Amino acid sequence: LAACTSGNASPPAPTRIGPKSPQVAATERNRRTASTRSTSVSLEADVSEIDLGGIQVKTWTYGGEVPGKEIRITRGDVLNAELSNKLPQPTTVHWHGLALRNDMDGVPVLTQPEIKAGTSFSYEFVAPDAGTYWFHPHVGTQLDRGLYTPLIVEDPADGSDYDTELVIVLDDWLDGIDGRDPDTVLAGLKKNGMMMGESGDSSMPGMDHGDMPGMGGMPQSELLGGDAGDVTYRYVLANGRISAAPRTFRARPGQRIRLRLINAAADTAFRVGVPGVPMTITHTDGFPVVPQRADVVLLGMGERLDAIITVPNSTVPVLALAEGRDTYAQVLLQSGRPGDPAAGDTAASQVAALPVLTASNLKAADEVTLREKAPDVTHTLVLEGPGAKYDWTINGKTYDPGDGLPIRTGQRVRLRFENKSTMFHPMHVHGHTFQILGKNGRGARKDTAMTVPGTTLDVDFDANNPGQWLTHCHNIYHSEAGMMTVVSYV
Ligand code: C2O
Ligand code: CU
Repeated sequence: LAACTSGNASPPAPTRIGPKSPQVAATERNRRTASTRSTSVSLEADVSEIDLGGIQVKTWTYGGEVPGKEIRITRGDVLNAELSNKLPQPTTVHWHGLALRNDMDGVPVLTQPEIKAGTSFSYEFVAPDAGTYWFHPHVGTQLDRGLYTPLIVEDPADGSDYDTELVIVLDDWLDGIDGRDPDTVLAGLKKNGMMMGESGDSSMPGMDHGDMPGMGGMPQSELLGGDAGDVTYRYVLANGRISAAPRTFRARPGQRIRLRLINAAADTAFRVGVPGVPMTITHTDGFPVVPQRADVVLLGMGERLDAIITVPNSTVPVLALAEGRDTYAQVLLQSGRPGDPAAGDTAASQVAALPVLTASNLKAADEVTLREKAPDVTHTLVLEGPGAKYDWTINGKTYDPGDGLPIRTGQRVRLRFENKSTMFHPMHVHGHTFQILGKNGRGARKDTAMTVPGTTLDVDFDANNPGQWLTHCHNIYHSEAGMMTVVSYV
């Protein structure tokens, strides 16, 4: 990965493809000024051999690393990223959470043709909002092979008070360890339906948005287990390492660290905590919230959370408990004496016993709260599955890129997710950051929100970024089995 910063790069001519892409004028958010700075990076998606901590695996990576090497830019900057595809399959890059121009969103058919094996593609866009983001392919189950990288957009005016940062990317791991690749797993699920595993009955009663107490108790154990059939993700990773060989981050007692947590897993939610060290949650999905204390936070697939902690006088793990999998990943915050990775077992049971804060309990900071307005249009998305062929549906249909939920520029749009399945679904909307409507009023701004079995979740956004925007479950096996639709500006 090579990076350089220069001024005034010229914009690429927008390419319009897809079944019904409208003519999109450059919106205000995407307009560059004379002072626009530009960062250029080269990304290589390739077959690589990596070390997960004493375990060598062959998999697919960006630049030979899992996670890929972080990209860091400033709000309003142009990012120019040339992806060269050395994989044996076509790919794309999706910039998860960014309200970027539609033709750079990386969704095959809808916003660009797939980048064929052996070819390259240049992404170029303005990053309009600061925050913790990440990117991954939007083709098949490629994400689950290790193709993911943090993208941090800094805000020069961010008043958060901390000394240093630690970005932690969480993942569940199939490829190369249990001998099965994600495509094989999905094919097996489709062939055998739910016969492959009994983990399909994963509900999340603790996450009822209706009457969850401020720091509601989360039932322990097998509630959030994933859905990749009988596949036991024997390993989960924090910054590319298994728990027995964790990454170490050196810190000084009293130092304030901004944790940027990213859940890049395909099929696993995590509970994250630092035993004995309270966190102050400051952002979710990149956007600021009214700061809130928590011992443990829940992170669904695709979600991000920023939290500030004060380093204690001893080495502690930032510990991520894989829901329903009886395993964990960790990063050691080394302060004082060197830590013992084995102490993670004790820490894991401590984290398991603490109350969990979910993003549904957070409130947007004033500056990012949507102004009060009744929706101009409401679209209901009924989430169901899995059918006999392991099909996961929205409004009774599996994904069809030519089909969409119509909206118009300027509208206040409400999406109503009705989860009629027995599993939770982290629902993600591309190109926008919505506001969760909780029972107690308006909640956090997010781009990915957990929906709970048997409940309805309303989210609102302002239609201000024209294009064709994918909306889907961020369980990669659910989305690939059909749980995707399009929010379509008409
Ligand atoms: Cu990370 Cu379409 O999503
Ligand atoms: Cu799902």
